[in-house]
Amino acid sequence: MARRLREYPDIVLDLDVLGEPADFTRIFGRPEPLHIEVGSGKGTFLASQAQAQTDVNFLGIEWARKYYRYAVDRIGRWGLDNVRLVRADAADFITRFVPDSSVACYHIYYPDPWPKKRHHKRRFICPVNVEQLLRTLSLQGKIRIATDQAEYFEWMKEVFVEFVDRLKKVEFTPAAGAEGGEIIGTNYERKYIKENRDVFTLAFEKKE
Ligand SMILES: C[S@@+](CC[C@H](N)C(=O)[O-])C[C@H]1O[C@@H](n2cnc3c(N)ncnc32)[C@H](O)[C@@H]1O
Repeated sequence: MARRLREYPDIVLDLDVLGEPADFTRIFGRPEPLHIEVGSGKGTFLASQAQAQTDVNFLGIEWARKYYRYAVDRIGRWGLDNVRLVRADAADFITRFVPDSSVACYHIYYPDPWPKKRHHKRRFICPVNVEQLLRTLSLQGKIRIATDQAEYFEWMKEVFVEFVDRLKKVEFTPAAGAEGGEIIGTNYERKYIKENRDVFTLAFEKKE
């Protein structure tokens, strides 16, 4: 029988009482740098990274209820008090709730590729969303991206060409919480490693 997933009200954000924009120093109870993971899935990266970087506040945004609940249960069981989770559409959440110049790093790992042409408009990496990432990033804030999809990777690079004046390309370094052979250590990445799939990465830093 499947284990019953527990709810941990202290680590989830309630959109009805959050306030626009949200006050993340109040939410975390401390003013540490804020990292946001877009599409945090089952919370595998968040859990290991939050353990490795206790001086960072991590927020995971996940749309799918099933994965979100799994991540809440996992983060709660691990007792990680530097992680919060919200069930929301990431683009909408960032636009409405994330203050200007408040994010030190966005983590976007293995975003849904939407391979059919008629679905490309659903891709998270698009000019409107990159504008929001830029608005909310602090100076020298980072955007870190990984994908196993070559075609989506080419698409991303084209999107970012529009932002060369405001984003500097930097080296993509492995995540602090990654284990042997991993680049980041997400759930999907572990599957892709077993399947010997190529992984493509990008990292940018916000210029002045
Ligand atoms: C391919 S999975 C990758 C999950 C995780 N990053 C990993 O590597 O294991 C993509 C995740 O992004 C979530 N997602 C897709 N679009 C989203 C959106 N607009 N807002 C929030 N989450 C989204 C999906 O529900 C899914 O859990």
